[in-house]
Amino acid sequence: MNVLSLFDGMSCGRIALDRAGIQVNKYYASELDKYAITVAQANWPETIQLGDVTKWREWDIDWSSIDLLIGGSPCQGFSFAGKQLAFDDPRSKLFFVYSDILTHIDNERDKAGKTEVKFLLENVKMKKEYLEIISDYLGVKPVFINSALVSAQNRQRYYWANWDFEQPEDKGITWGDIREYNAPDCHYYTEIGLSWIKRHSERTGKKLRVWGDDEKCQMLEASMFKNYSGQRFFGVNDTNGLRYISLLECERAQTVPDNYTNHVSNTQRYKMLGNGWTVDVIAHIFTPLASSINLERAA
Ligand SMILES: C[S@@+](CC[C@H](N)C(=O)[O-])C[C@H]1O[C@@H](n2cnc3c(N)ncnc32)[C@H](O)[C@@H]1O
Repeated sequence: MNVLSLFDGMSCGRIALDRAGIQVNKYYASELDKYAITVAQANWPETIQLGDVTKWREWDIDWSSIDLLIGGSPCQGFSFAGKQLAFDDPRSKLFFVYSDILTHIDNERDKAGKTEVKFLLENVKMKKEYLEIISDYLGVKPVFINSALVSAQNRQRYYWANWDFEQPEDKGITWGDIREYNAPDCHYYTEIGLSWIKRHSERTGKKLRVWGDDEKCQMLEASMFKNYSGQRFFGVNDTNGLRYISLLECERAQTVPDNYTNHVSNTQRYKMLGNGWTVDVIAHIFTPLASSINLERAA
């Protein structure tokens, strides 16, 4: 099938298609971040990068040939962690670009006598009124999934798709299953970092949380790249003392293959892993789609 992935990041969608056993013919990606593109191309060199999604009318592609549209539009405007500007936030407005592209593909497929394009949209926890606007535009209701069911990470997201899928079964994966021992030195807090954490805790009452092996780890975030200050609540006990979550642990928390992002700086890796999808959630959502493709092929 031919896939168009908007806001593709480091191509977690492409890994998920592979894991679900869906054969990909052409994979078009729209992404701006050059580091995410570097990682995507290093792992999936055949990806066709299209650039800025807002320039979609200039793209030279056969729109009717797109069988699957996927993407998670930037979510800061919707997020409870953000300022709740919702559709006035220029980043959240990109949802409407997704919706325009979806309509355009369907019109082109209709002209070519083809069925509707399959689509998947992912987004963060948001107010009910925003959810309803998105659902009205897409014509389907979302399914709310916590990545904790298939990984060691708590990560709650909404998923809209025009095929049926259930909640994944709980795989019972915990922090102890993915954690590293003897992690590289660069992951340890410095003395300055530790004293900053201490002062910050005294001022705000927020303590560094050290995860137990039988717990889930907290949600990864794009801001983890901000050195010790951004990582202050990621506490891991390791051989040489307290450290923050390692890159390998971030990859495992997102069920991304080990060292998948090992093509750019640590800062950029943290950022894109915090922005990325939990691959096994997406692969789970794709599984019924893979079955229907196989049935069609057999008929
Ligand atoms: C939430 S992240 C999606 C990550 C992706 N799903 C993954 O698995 O890596 C949103 C992405 O949208 C990208 N983005 C923001 N504005 C864009 C634009 N105008 N065109 C294309 N991509 C854009 C950002 O660079 C970011 O990587």
